[in-house]
Amino acid sequence: MRHWPLTALVLTTPDLTLRLPTDSELDELAQVAADGIHPDDEVCFPQPWATGPPSLRARRVLQNHWWARGDWERDNWRLLLAVFRGDEVIGQQNLSARNFTLTQEARTGFWLGQEFQRQGYGTQMRAAALTLAFEGLNALRVTSTAFASNTASRAVSRKFGYRANGVHRVAVGADVIDAHEEVIERADWRLLSAGFPVTIHGMPACLSCFQ
Ligand SMILES: CC(C)(COP(=O)(O)OP(=O)(O)OC[C@H]1O[C@@H](n2cnc3c(N)ncnc32)[C@H](O)[C@@H]1OP(=O)(O)O)[C@@H](O)C(=O)NCCC(=O)NCCS
Repeated sequence: MRHWPLTALVLTTPDLTLRLPTDSELDELAQVAADGIHPDDEVCFPQPWATGPPSLRARRVLQNHWWARGDWERDNWRLLLAVFRGDEVIGQQNLSARNFTLTQEARTGFWLGQEFQRQGYGTQMRAAALTLAFEGLNALRVTSTAFASNTASRAVSRKFGYRANGVHRVAVGADVIDAHEEVIERADWRLLSAGFPVTIHGMPACLSCFQ
């Protein structure tokens, strides 16, 4: 799209492509959420959008994408990329920041449909987000927050050598859960990045959206 340059942005990893979805692809992504991201008795997100009836989970995905685009500002943005394995949508990778031109700090989030988990895709998705942040946008630091019990998300951060950056107490419904923030800095990423090949296409066209 001429007037939404972020549609030009495409990240590729050995097995995956990450880019903004069209509305029909977004509908596919919503179906992945409807089919299930985690068991109903687990909590993975501060806003428990991935629990509840499948149709509601699907609708939340659609609304979240439309909201993130509608709310986009250069000093407060949330990039929600669909993740494709071939033509199939399998999950979502987020990169977001407030006042990025000043702080040069961004944060990531991600999820995969349950049937696509534990196959190394989460690691490739995080590598794509880190490449975009550090190489594409010149970030200094990237953070990730995961609940104490989220072994998979924290394992991905550990693979990239993130450092602990504090624990927050988060209320989820009637429960209080420890959320562990972890951080990686540009120098640390540079040491590792060759092991996680990612290509960025379309960056010049969309730089104006970020700075
Ligand atoms: C978090 C998530 C995106 C990780 O993606 P993934 O594709 O499953 O992760 P990977 O296959 O790349 O695995 C990365 C590491 O985590 C480990 N891991 C993955 N799932 C695990 C599990 N359930 N228990 C223990 N270890 C696990 C893997 O063994 C791997 O480590 P290794 O390479 O040293 O063996 C995915 O599990 C998911 O969507 N979970 C539900 C939503 C969620 O929790 N999102 C994050 C919120 S903070």
